[in-house]
Amino acid sequence: MSSSSAVSTVTPVIKTLKVGLAGCGTVGQSVLTMLHRQKALFHSLDYAVSLEGVYVRDALRPRDFDYPGAVLTDDPHFLEGTDILIEVMGGVDRPLELWMPHLERGGIVITANKALMAERWDAIRKYVENGQVYFEASVMAGTPIITPLATILRASTPIRLEATLNGTCNYILSQMERGQDYHTALAEAQRLGYAESDPTLDVGGGDSAHKLTLLARMFIDPEYALEKVQVRGIDTLPPGAVNEALERGEKIRLLCSIERENGEWVARVEPRALPLSHPIAQADSSHNALMFTGEECGTVIFMGNGAGGATTASAVVGDLISHMDGIPGPKQVSLVR
Ligand SMILES: NC(=O)c1ccc[n+]([C@@H]2O[C@H](COP(=O)([O-])OP(=O)(O)OC[C@H]3O[C@@H](n4cnc5c(N)ncnc54)[C@H](OP(=O)(O)O)[C@@H]3O)[C@@H](O)[C@H]2O)c1
Repeated sequence: MSSSSAVSTVTPVIKTLKVGLAGCGTVGQSVLTMLHRQKALFHSLDYAVSLEGVYVRDALRPRDFDYPGAVLTDDPHFLEGTDILIEVMGGVDRPLELWMPHLERGGIVITANKALMAERWDAIRKYVENGQVYFEASVMAGTPIITPLATILRASTPIRLEATLNGTCNYILSQMERGQDYHTALAEAQRLGYAESDPTLDVGGGDSAHKLTLLARMFIDPEYALEKVQVRGIDTLPPGAVNEALERGEKIRLLCSIERENGEWVARVEPRALPLSHPIAQADSSHNALMFTGEECGTVIFMGNGAGGATTASAVVGDLISHMDGIPGPKQVSLVR
């Protein structure tokens, strides 16, 4: 018998995942394009994605994505028959109304929504612990941090975490370093689509506080509450502060930190002057940076895109691939440190 005739070919069984997308804005459009582009990759993992629909407010609005046959609707009923809800709408109450029945019947949620994750921990915690919720995209967009914190970094005893997590603030501060005043830099950020028309969550530090709350739950305490984060935004900076820092050889960044003070863990968001050589001071424009310091692993630095459709979609689709690989959604730390 020849060796070739001895090899039996087994046709893989392709499992179909019914996916519903909620939200088709900056992130959702890129998610659709990536879902279409990565079909061959899904097949190589023995999966196919069946896109059951795309839930939006205005189904007639022109969009920019590449997913032939995608059906947009303002009626969310189709979500009831899906295995996976990809929620990239933003907000808290409306998306939670979609999450809850889906999670209660054992469905999977993949999200970029840090506001809901931070504010409604009471409602979703048990499903996160079940591994039903994937949220890599919710902090630092396409730059992985949730997965490393939930896996390899858990072995190290935490000492300190420092990060800059809001690309809009980095952009505004970078422009101010080039001589623009705060209001002109903010208006420019809005014109370019970096900042919301109501930029309070960005410049007031609320968006960073949402993200820092999620990190604190991975780093020190699974119950860490949003209300415990001390928050001061870049909107409190006195005029001239950015230039004065530059003259001292420093850059101001909206620093998010978790460290021990007098025996207590303190999570804080505040503008802080950092030496130009500090890794976090290198994060300009839409970049984010994070330094994790653990007793055993030392200091580990993560830096990369922290906002934008394609980069955020890459983390969303990465979470979908993790699910196809049988990897459950990320866990919080299991004990208070
Ligand atoms: N943009 C980023 O760079 C980025 C990065 C990381 C994480 N995120 C997170 O990703 C999520 C989405 O952000 P985005 O920038 O893509 O937002 P966006 O551009 O404003 O898009 C939001 C989408 O959700 C839909 N939507 C909003 N409220 C709805 C409602 N009540 N019912 C039905 N549809 C609704 C909108 O529908 P219409 O289009 O019909 O109005 C739109 O398609 C947010 O949680 C955000 O924090 C964003």
